[in-house]
Amino acid sequence: PDAYDQEGGVDQRKRFAVARQRYGEVTREKEAWEDHQAQKATVRFGAKDKKQVSDGYEFVFDEVTSFVETSVEAEKDRGYDERRVAKDDRKMLPIYAYRDELLKLVEENQVLVIVGETGSGKTTQIPQYLQEAGYTKRGKIGCTQPRRVAAMSVAARVAQELGVKLGHQVGYSIRFEDCTSEKTVIKYMTDGMLLRELLIEPKLDSYSVIIVDEAHERTLSTDILFGLVKDLAKARPDLRLIISSATLEAKKFSEYFDSARIYMIPGRRYPVEKLFQRCPEPDRLETAVRTVFQIHQREPLGDVLVFLTGQEEIETAETKLKEMMKDLGSKSSEIIICPIYSNLPTELQAKVFDPAPKGTRKVVLATNIAETSLTIEGIRYVVDPGYCKINSYNPKTGMESLLETPISKASAEQRAGRSGRTGPGKCFRLYNVKDLEPTTIPEVQRANLASVVLTLKSLGIDDVFNFDFMDPPPEKSLMKALELLYALGALDGKSYITKLGERMVEFPVDPMLSKMIVGSEKYKCSAEIITIAAMLSTGSSIFYRPTRNQQYLADNARMSFYTDNAGDHIALLRVYNSWKEMNYSSQWCYENYIQSKSMRRARDIREQLAGLLKRIGVELTSNSEDLDAVKKAILAGFFPHSAKLQKDGSYRRVREPQTVYVHPSSGLFGASPKKWLVYHELVLTTKEYMRHTTEMKPEWLVEIAPHYYKLKDIEGTRTKKSQSRNIRSLMLMVDTNTKAKRKVDTNKKA
Ligand code: CDP
Ligand code: MG
Repeated sequence: PDAYDQEGGVDQRKRFAVARQRYGEVTREKEAWEDHQAQKATVRFGAKDKKQVSDGYEFVFDEVTSFVETSVEAEKDRGYDERRVAKDDRKMLPIYAYRDELLKLVEENQVLVIVGETGSGKTTQIPQYLQEAGYTKRGKIGCTQPRRVAAMSVAARVAQELGVKLGHQVGYSIRFEDCTSEKTVIKYMTDGMLLRELLIEPKLDSYSVIIVDEAHERTLSTDILFGLVKDLAKARPDLRLIISSATLEAKKFSEYFDSARIYMIPGRRYPVEKLFQRCPEPDRLETAVRTVFQIHQREPLGDVLVFLTGQEEIETAETKLKEMMKDLGSKSSEIIICPIYSNLPTELQAKVFDPAPKGTRKVVLATNIAETSLTIEGIRYVVDPGYCKINSYNPKTGMESLLETPISKASAEQRAGRSGRTGPGKCFRLYNVKDLEPTTIPEVQRANLASVVLTLKSLGIDDVFNFDFMDPPPEKSLMKALELLYALGALDGKSYITKLGERMVEFPVDPMLSKMIVGSEKYKCSAEIITIAAMLSTGSSIFYRPTRNQQYLADNARMSFYTDNAGDHIALLRVYNSWKEMNYSSQWCYENYIQSKSMRRARDIREQLAGLLKRIGVELTSNSEDLDAVKKAILAGFFPHSAKLQKDGSYRRVREPQTVYVHPSSGLFGASPKKWLVYHELVLTTKEYMRHTTEMKPEWLVEIAPHYYKLKDIEGTRTKKSQSRNIRSLMLMVDTNTKAKRKVDTNKKA
């Protein structure tokens, strides 16, 4: 919430209020629907009275605090099947009973909305059913996932079920990693990857069915896909479209897809006791760990699932749990800790699905991924601190950040449900559910839209304001995206995509990064720039910082890459080049406190970027002696991210009235401060930090982006008034055109 007290806070709040209002309505619909579903399930499974779990269960977190309110909310018992789901038996999954009905509906309806409890078998089974019914004879079956890990792990599972090698008949495709072949007919992929495929194959001719899975997540890419595939369905009557969701926006999906048929797969669910803390503890992580510990000491065997916000929390929790278990000694049964998050190495991901050996308890430490994307069997206890990381964007400052935010009520229900899949479960909530919002705001309304706007423009959708959004983004966000793309040169004054823009689209990275890559041609340093781009895109940190006593060694090793203190980008370049000189040795990584896993990924990404450069006809040239050239190329993409040192040691963004700081992870942190910096991104934790910063010269700003910076900016003489006037005139150029077009369109409609 702090982020919204910044500049432009009022607008943000208003927007959220409006969104909330709208979602209020959805919730009421949802409740009605839930009742309806419960009734339906009762009918299907034979009438059973709705049982209520008795009130007044006592569970005191006495090791945490003496003041904990506990209570049990009634859980609807929807009637369940006593059969346990055998892991390797497809026929035991709830969806199996509806196989034929489902296939018939797919045949009869071009667009079908499928709703079903998590774990009922939607993701793994539907593509297989479609294949068995012959759909793959006409083309591939594509199934999108919002998360990389889900795409990979589900594909692996399906390959295993079919007894084929992953990447052959069944494969997956995620950014920078394509595990498919000519033979692939069932393809799992991230929603972002399908967007990219649309750029190459606008009618998706090689597909016979597209399944937009996990639609309830409403990621930015999924929302854009909705608009595109809806249109595509009209152009391709043979294409089948399935929108699949774990929760209850079904009606909204159906309405959006011109009253598409909704099909509900009743799930099996056991009652879940929900215990909660009325007054949440300040240290969530500590409380969560202690709760796990208590469960282990007091509750019968059964696995525990803890929802945490990210890799960092997961690693801390793992350490703490291990310490606690050590204290306990051999008195208690063993626990097996299984982390799962998106950057976890593939080989470790599979471990989470292995059943715990007899007499032991598995504790899964997971991010949101375990909420609906992945089902882990055997969970009986859920510990839910009630937070997740979400993307948040302030269109006024262009500031994008990952914020730890309370989850929504809908998420809380999903999380609790994870404990009741194979038997009655318990969910320990470290918060009061009454404090939560009903649902999460779709990402499209809180994200930086520059990348998708460029994609849309490249697809020939020029009027982005009239794109068929399920929930339209704030106009301001669209404006900001157009403004940035214009400043980067990806759009012309009339808001059409330029040749440069078309080249930028080739790269599966954000527009500023792709501009940096394409822009490197001019400075003859494309070899260096794609190295830096790859190092920035690994998604995990490059430098390894051990706990405690070896830290200074690690820090020394790291600082050796900062010889002239030029900055983080340059240091990343040096790390990569040194590693390359050492023949990509992992031993070298180890000795220098470098994460070899990240390095291998960087090498992989770099190769792909090199391939793409070749495709757009840019030669790979090295200019390693001239660091200024490299910095200028960085600036060609990141000139809007410039900052100037203030007297108090903080920095101020050159074109925005915003104070920012050097991130503690930067090699420039604590060093003698540089007057002018360019940074890769802003992250908001306790302050607004610039991550990955490099020194630059202010005159370069005017040289590289004369349309964006005037001498006054760098001399600091520009007044507030002239600044806003300049921005407005820039926007006007973009705006008048789209607005004018809009009018034409409205006239057409009328
Ligand atoms: O998509 P939905 O939530 O409806 O279910 P699913 O992901 O198709 O999962 C069906 C079953 O496959 C569950 O019982 C999962 O535990 C199992 N599964 C697995 O064991 N390993 C995976 N990587 C994915 C699913
Ligand atoms: Mg699924």
